[in-house]
Amino acid sequence: MHQNTPLKVHYYGSAVVLLGTRDEEGRANVAPMSSAWWLGQSCMLGMGDRSRTAQNMRRTREVTVNLVPAGLAGAVDLLADLTAADPVPETKAAKGYRYEPDKFAAAGLTEQPGEVTGAPRVAECPIQLECRITAVHPFGSGCTAFEAEILRSHVDESLLVPGTAYVDPVAWDPLVMKFCEYFGEARNLRPSRLAANWRMPHGGVLPAPVSG
Ligand SMILES: Cc1cc2nc3c(=O)[nH]c(=O)nc-3n(C[C@H](O)[C@H](O)[C@H](O)COP(=O)(O)O)c2cc1C
Repeated sequence: MHQNTPLKVHYYGSAVVLLGTRDEEGRANVAPMSSAWWLGQSCMLGMGDRSRTAQNMRRTREVTVNLVPAGLAGAVDLLADLTAADPVPETKAAKGYRYEPDKFAAAGLTEQPGEVTGAPRVAECPIQLECRITAVHPFGSGCTAFEAEILRSHVDESLLVPGTAYVDPVAWDPLVMKFCEYFGEARNLRPSRLAANWRMPHGGVLPAPVSG
């Protein structure tokens, strides 16, 4: 039987990406997000207006969308409570977010220049999409949907079906965020700061016991 429940969170499971942008001083920023979907050679990116990333995208009209493999869950989690916005917006500070001007270094990620945009790519991501923002739509409350045209796709050759321009769906193991938890290989991979900060009521993966 269905229960009539006003759900607090509607994150049913979507691929995690890292958005690469630049601020007005040319400094690189990288931010995890999972509100991305694709149709043809365009994608729609949903970001909170208070994020530095949204501000950077509005100004530069450029972004790289770096698809995250399950093996990078740890790096994503290192970014989960960081923002390049200074001062940190109050609602974020209340959730434990901290200001970090060099998020690439904080997550142990490597910046790689774009070829057709000024936005930075994430070298560790095997699929990197360089995009131009073509339209900006207000979305929900305090969010914006950025329509992005994919100008160039960079794909690690190990993920391509040999001799084609197609990604092999068996070879590609995306990191999936489901109700604030990380999944890959169809299993919950590690404890999640996002889930902790959101005070999600489910159990999730417990942290490893401290030895000794
Ligand atoms: C797995 C994961 C998924 C996220 N998805 C989104 C999202 O879809 N949209 C969004 O605005 N923020 C999302 N966030 C939160 C942003 O990463 C966070 O607001 C971050 O502080 C933005 O950084 P910035 O202020 O430097 O741009 C997500 C975070 C994590 C860890």
